[in-house]
Amino acid sequence: MCFAVSDVTGIIPTPCSEVKRFWCVSMLSHLFSTAPMLDYSDTHCRYFWRLFTPHALLYTEMIHVNAILHGKKAHFLSYEPQEHPLALQLGGHEPQALAQCAQYAQDEGFDEVNLNVGCPSDRVQSGSFGACLMREPERVAEGVAAMRAKVSIPVTVKTRIGVDQEDSYEFLSQFVSCVAEAGCEVFIIHARKAWLKGLSPKQNRDIPPLNYERVYQLKRDFPKLHFVLNGGIKDWDTAKLALVHLDGIMIGREACANPYFLAELEQQLYHTSLPTRRAILERYLDYIDLKLSNGVHHKKLLKPLMGLFHAQKDARVWRGLLSQPDFSIELFRKFILMNERI
Ligand SMILES: Cc1cc2nc3c(=O)[nH]c(=O)nc-3n(C[C@H](O)[C@H](O)[C@H](O)COP(=O)(O)O)c2cc1C
Repeated sequence: MCFAVSDVTGIIPTPCSEVKRFWCVSMLSHLFSTAPMLDYSDTHCRYFWRLFTPHALLYTEMIHVNAILHGKKAHFLSYEPQEHPLALQLGGHEPQALAQCAQYAQDEGFDEVNLNVGCPSDRVQSGSFGACLMREPERVAEGVAAMRAKVSIPVTVKTRIGVDQEDSYEFLSQFVSCVAEAGCEVFIIHARKAWLKGLSPKQNRDIPPLNYERVYQLKRDFPKLHFVLNGGIKDWDTAKLALVHLDGIMIGREACANPYFLAELEQQLYHTSLPTRRAILERYLDYIDLKLSNGVHHKKLLKPLMGLFHAQKDARVWRGLLSQPDFSIELFRKFILMNERI
């Protein structure tokens, strides 16, 4: 099945015609994705999220090219086969370094490579990558062209709607136009600008106002390009409206706070049945067991679980269990046994 947005009332599943079927299998779907999140969307988290959504495209945390080229390449590029479809997000600006890392990503089986042009942190700015690159579309275009020349997997860009005072629609559309010329066909837009001085990365995710209309305008002006909306999507109504205008939605913090939202989106978009939290937990506990025996620290494995019972009766008991100083997987299995209804 692939999906056609019919009108504002909803998304209608339509069986693929022959032509559409070819399109569906040959092109990575950006309809639904989870956001790259440093110190959060690591391989364990992505494995956990996959249990809620077989279809979503999952993004790694941003990994700087130097960490891959001069650091622990195998560590940064490792993942579980279940994580597919999976995109690697790179930070950097130097075309040859980006191209080499894109090549590594493709060799390791990643389904896409994405360039970060949205992170506003001081550290990132001092390395001349992330959001400050919005001011240098030619440099971004060079990086994209170099990566495209090396790999056949999609090369995409995640960016903002502007930086500092450069927040006009013209600034944004010139950026998109220049980078698209280099071969980028998919843009993920965090629909707020970034202030490069004066706001922390966290404040830059909340304080500049969201402007979805800007992104809708991009799609009207560049109908052949694919645009994914990111920023503040926390319910199906917002997601559905975005999908009337755009090609996809990307979910960040809500996937951390309430991962079950991913299952709800999966159900709305693909008409699959909702898994129970219990079934997800049982499968993830098996994964924890395996990873503990490989020497992974339990704190890393438990981190994505915090929001599993978000807004449920057992949420407080659950969070208490996760915060216990003495870790025991048996406690979690007991929790399942004692809570028949979960
Ligand atoms: C803890 C955290 C880490 C993040 N790290 C990255 C990152 O590595 N790369 C990136 O492009 N965006 C990063 N972001 C931004 C998110 O990808 C996303 O653009 C932002 O949170 C807005 O989406 P949301 O409202 O759905 O959370 C991060 C966000 C958070 C909360």
